[in-house]
Amino acid sequence: MKENDKAVGIIGLGTYVPEKVVTNKDLERIVDTDDEWIVERTGIRERRIADENTATSDLATKAAQKALANAGVSADEIDLIIVATATPDMFFPSVACLVQDNLKASKAAAFDLAAGCSGFVYGIVVGTQFIKAGLYKKVLVIGAETLSRILDWTDRNTCVLFGDGAGAAVLGETAEGCGLLGSHLGADGSGGDLLKLPAGGSRCPASPETVSNRQHFVHMNGNEVFKFATKVMGEAAVKALDNAGLKAEDVDVLIPHQANIRIIQSAAKRLKMPANKVIINVDRYGNTSAASIPLALEEAVNTGKVKNGDVVVLVGFGAGLTWASCVIKWCKEDNTIA
Ligand code: ACO
Repeated sequence: MKENDKAVGIIGLGTYVPEKVVTNKDLERIVDTDDEWIVERTGIRERRIADENTATSDLATKAAQKALANAGVSADEIDLIIVATATPDMFFPSVACLVQDNLKASKAAAFDLAAGCSGFVYGIVVGTQFIKAGLYKKVLVIGAETLSRILDWTDRNTCVLFGDGAGAAVLGETAEGCGLLGSHLGADGSGGDLLKLPAGGSRCPASPETVSNRQHFVHMNGNEVFKFATKVMGEAAVKALDNAGLKAEDVDVLIPHQANIRIIQSAAKRLKMPANKVIINVDRYGNTSAASIPLALEEAVNTGKVKNGDVVVLVGFGAGLTWASCVIKWCKEDNTIA
């Protein structure tokens, strides 16, 4: 068998969310909003928020430890760690390097990947290539965010939408015909202004003015991002299915990025996917960006909605603008995730 014919898939999954639950009612006390508006326009009822001593690498490490245990793989077997995040602990070192140290995964190479909410799927596709090429055997891909740190808690347009969390997957060789069957990655940098954190980088370094102008928070044109998302989610899923030689009717479970229930429903409609095949947990976690797809996947596996042999589509969109999708044949007989 040629190296790039190897079947590569997720051999372990783990997630972690902070304990603190913030409900829409709690937000009513902070900004001019109400539970009814948030539920109706987004589907979100509550989200998890990290305490002040917890950073992205802490969430990432906990999810990674669970994924390693679930895979039955030890940290020193990991060849590469990829962390998809928009909320690193700091500019550098990368979250991936911090996690490498926390796990004592001493032989692993490590880097962060910036593709907004599409980052986890980007990471799965990138990590798979290293194994297919024969360079590595085990890759740890993590999506982890503490978005609460970059939210303007006076801006009702954005602060109600997001939450904190992490999800991790161990990639490795799997049975023939299983694992990643197809994928599609995309970007449109011309839409970068629609969703950004304007200051603190080399274009606009941090200064007293940037702080007082609230430029270190998420700035978003919600309506335009919404239009982009409803268009791109269905299209991206179809492209990954084409790449896998499959059709929408072959899909058992759709795991969309959990940003807004209306965006999820529109993607499902485009794919003519019945509601019972679509995983939704945005009501409990809000938009956890790069963590949202692994959180939804793990829940689907744990609740038996994803079964051994199922064809699963992961699809996301995010800041950049970016989009990413992949088709996985789920062949993990022991579906139990601690
Ligand atoms: N509570 C009450 N009213 C609100 C709130 C709120 N939390 N937020 C906005 N409103 C108001 C607006 O001010 C506006 O009032 P106005 O008409 O008096 O100006 C009204 O509600 C309607 O606002 P719209 O923006 O038109 O509302 P819409 O139905 O489009 O929903 C939303 C807004 C939820 C942000 C939607 O556009 C959306 O989900 N967009 C996509 C966002 C997204 O997914 N972002 C993440 C991208 S992924 C990543 O990489 C992080």
